[in-house]
Amino acid sequence: MIPNEKHVSDSEIVLHHFMMPEHANPLGNVHGGIIMKMVDEAGGLCAMRHAQRPAVTIAIDSMTFHSPVHVGDLVMLYARVNYVGRTSMEVGVRVVAENPITGEQTHTNSAFLVYVALDEHGKPTTVPRLILETGEEHRRWNAAKERQAQRLNRA
Ligand SMILES: CC(C)(COP(=O)(O)OP(=O)(O)OC[C@H]1O[C@@H](n2cnc3c(N)ncnc32)[C@H](O)[C@@H]1OP(=O)(O)O)[C@@H](O)C(=O)NCCC(=O)NCCS
Repeated sequence: MIPNEKHVSDSEIVLHHFMMPEHANPLGNVHGGIIMKMVDEAGGLCAMRHAQRPAVTIAIDSMTFHSPVHVGDLVMLYARVNYVGRTSMEVGVRVVAENPITGEQTHTNSAFLVYVALDEHGKPTTVPRLILETGEEHRRWNAAKERQAQRLNRA
């Protein structure tokens, strides 16, 4: 039984990936596309945990990489639901790279992604409402609601 409403913390996740040589671009740093795939994976899992349904990516906002991720880094992806509509969910993903030898952490990029929950026929289906508990969660909701309105205007 899927609940009618859920807390942000119910679906928050952190994924860890160790960057190996196979993730590198010709310069020897991690390929941006690898980071994008991991971001979508973390966001999708978070959306599925909220909806308790399969969820597909319908939109990804632009992504800016502030600093390179290196082979040998541990990449941590923090994903949480910011906003839900009827069938859609905006998830924010924060990417942090850590040098496991020095412990130095760098926030490399963040991204906002929108997922749609699907029913057993592959059609959009309703998702639980989001219970907002903190001022920060309300702030994120309002900002995400504005972003979603802008996406729909552009679409
Ligand atoms: C996801 C999909 C089933 C939605 O079908 P649809 O007919 O567009 O559905 P709807 O018009 O009912 O929209 C569903 C939700 O998406 C939202 N949406 C639609 N277009 C959007 C856009 N450009 N950006 C953000 N959200 C959007 C709608 O607002 C709605 O949300 P709400 O119910 O919370 O209000 C369909 O677009 C699809 O299959 N897309 C491909 C998904 C995919 O394969 N992704 C992986 C990449 S290969």
